[in-house]
Amino acid sequence: MVNLKALILSGGKGTRLRPLTFTTAKQLIPVANKPILGYVLDHISRAGITDTGIIIAPETGEYVKEYVKEGTAWGINVTYMPQEPLGLAHAVKTARDFLGEDSFVMCLGDNLLGEGINKLVDKFNREKLDALILLKEVENPTTFGVAVLDGKGNVVKLIEKPKEPPSNLALVGVYIFSPRIHEAIEKIKPSWRNELEITDAIQELINMGCRVRNEILNSWWLDTGKKDDILTANSIILDEYLKNEMYGSLDNKSKVTGRVKIDKGSVVTNSIIRGPVAIGRNVSIENSFIGPYTSIGDNTSIVDSSIEHCVILSNVSVNGIERLEDSLLGKDVNVSKNHTGRKALRLMIGDYSEIEA
Ligand code: DAU
Repeated sequence: MVNLKALILSGGKGTRLRPLTFTTAKQLIPVANKPILGYVLDHISRAGITDTGIIIAPETGEYVKEYVKEGTAWGINVTYMPQEPLGLAHAVKTARDFLGEDSFVMCLGDNLLGEGINKLVDKFNREKLDALILLKEVENPTTFGVAVLDGKGNVVKLIEKPKEPPSNLALVGVYIFSPRIHEAIEKIKPSWRNELEITDAIQELINMGCRVRNEILNSWWLDTGKKDDILTANSIILDEYLKNEMYGSLDNKSKVTGRVKIDKGSVVTNSIIRGPVAIGRNVSIENSFIGPYTSIGDNTSIVDSSIEHCVILSNVSVNGIERLEDSLLGKDVNVSKNHTGRKALRLMIGDYSEIEA
């Protein structure tokens, strides 16, 4: 049995999730009130891996450290490594000393998978591989790394974000490598987007005659790079994992149907909550409707409003909004009705915000 380390990539710029990523890392955006990175660490921990390196960006690294700390909550030991976002293979290069001569699982900190990695780890060990990659059929292969298999299921070719995809099998953000990956990375050059691509390094392993195999992922997989991906991830997680849990209080004019979790200190008054819905701590909901597939973060207040299919972070106030749907609201946001009687929008919003009025 090979002793595996884990490398989690939690750096990058998160430009597609601005303005939220001005004050947090994209891997920390919560789905069902838990940061995406937390689910990734759950998989590492369940695979019995303890030695974990986390790549962080200079701008958002402190937020990641604040959440994961030493890794005690997951029973792992964490080493942090800051990196400028120069590519996934560059991240591996940055972690060279940490990885030493050990094989390792590499996970992208913003990818969510519907199943754990234990089966992959077993296959990697059993077949003594140099790389095991995970693939999934997608409708839009141009936005991913893409693999071509031969008739026997061997990986013969890999291309990063091809304009004309030779297949619809995308590389999922989980990989297992032997230390030979470092040799391959030394041989590759930056791509057209000026990044050292891990896809090119795996292609190099194939060229070197190394043992590269694949596994097709049967469960769902989400790359949570954009707002709609976060909403979809939230819906799936709520659908699959949410249980009925009531730690807050509900008055007798309120009604809860479906699976709903209400955390400690939260108070629901004269409202309807139709699950699946996750409500954090010290949330106040008054004269409102909270519809399916909504998560509401701690210390948020919803008054005289109707909300559905939304991810709302902490310390938010929504007041007098007739219908809010398919929305992602960051921390400390305030959305309220304008009481002037005029049909006008009055905004004070950060850079890169998006409004569909
Ligand atoms: O999501 C799967 C795709 O991830 C694969 O199909 C592609 O082959 C792979 O290149 C990657 O593509 P993306 O362009 O979506 O990667 P992104 O830039 O979003 O980075 C993925 C994660 O790695 C993200 O959590 C940020 C982190 N990262 C990224 C870079 C470029 C780092 O930690 N350091 C980096 O230098």
